[in-house]
Amino acid sequence: MKKIEALKTVMLTEITKVNSLAEIETLKIKYLGKKGEIQGLMQEMRHLSNEERPQFGALVNALKNEVETLITQKVDEFIQAEVLNQINAEHIDITLPGQNLEVGNQHPLTIVENEICELFESMGYAVVDGPEVELDLYNFERANIPENHPAREMQDTFFIDVERLLRTHTTAIQTRVLEAEAENLPIKVICPGKTYRRDEDDATHSHQFIQIEGLLIDENIKMTDLKGTLEVLVKNVFGSDQEIRLRPSYFQFTEPSVEVDVTCFNCKGSGCSVCKQTGWIELLGAGMVHPHVLEMAGIDSKKYSGFAFGIGVDRAVMLKYGVNDIRSLYTNDTRLLSQFKRFD
Ligand code: PHE
Repeated sequence: MKKIEALKTVMLTEITKVNSLAEIETLKIKYLGKKGEIQGLMQEMRHLSNEERPQFGALVNALKNEVETLITQKVDEFIQAEVLNQINAEHIDITLPGQNLEVGNQHPLTIVENEICELFESMGYAVVDGPEVELDLYNFERANIPENHPAREMQDTFFIDVERLLRTHTTAIQTRVLEAEAENLPIKVICPGKTYRRDEDDATHSHQFIQIEGLLIDENIKMTDLKGTLEVLVKNVFGSDQEIRLRPSYFQFTEPSVEVDVTCFNCKGSGCSVCKQTGWIELLGAGMVHPHVLEMAGIDSKKYSGFAFGIGVDRAVMLKYGVNDIRSLYTNDTRLLSQFKRFD
């Protein structure tokens, strides 16, 4: 009996001293395991007399139960402590300021390009593109600018070899469409794309810029159709109070040709330094497609006529938003670009 008492005291103190789940597991095996100390006491029962045995047995059993309960309690304590530790370690302070996610936006060139294309799509035009590395044939020849023609020099060209160049204008897409759709008239297309010229970059020149070509070919298309269409374009993109003015001009691929001016954005037409006191600002080139251009593409110019226009998107962006250096459209300074949010 004394032995049981002594063992009990040792066990209970040992149990209270454990520091970890691993330690308590070791004690559990030591006391309650098959070869454990309590089992050892049971073995001793056979040395006892019949009278002593039940009492001894009851005491060992009581000890076993007590130890079991204590150990289970300890195990629970450690598990709970561990869970608490984990919760504390993973604690999220929801009062801390969050990470700011930068939401991007479209480039102003893309915004205006899309605006113009969407407007013309709503009027039944199809958006068409073409190669930036273009054949001399489509960029010049078919636009009525034959070899050695002085007009070629006006469009300082990046030549790749004798046949190929970086297109100098989206009129190259126009001549391709005319050829491809010659048997499939009428034609109503809007053609945006990058264009290249060997210009020195400065505030108003960029060796790479963006144009949008509009082309409509059908029977009985007249200059007034061109004027009406350009009015819709200008009023939609720049504001319904904008007027346009056509001035005679010259392009090889249109006849007659016009330069199109819009009301000065700065002074609204009264005259200022921006518009050199004229009240007008030059915006784009246009004209009636030259009969020879139609014929070269295989279209009967007696039956069909049409108009074309080419608008510089960079210039449109600069005028619309008051950007005064074209280079800032290509240097990707987010202080400029982030001002052009378009939510739709
Ligand atoms: N291709 C001309 C240019 O780049 C613009 C233009 C297009 C003019 C279509 C008339 C008709 O200057």
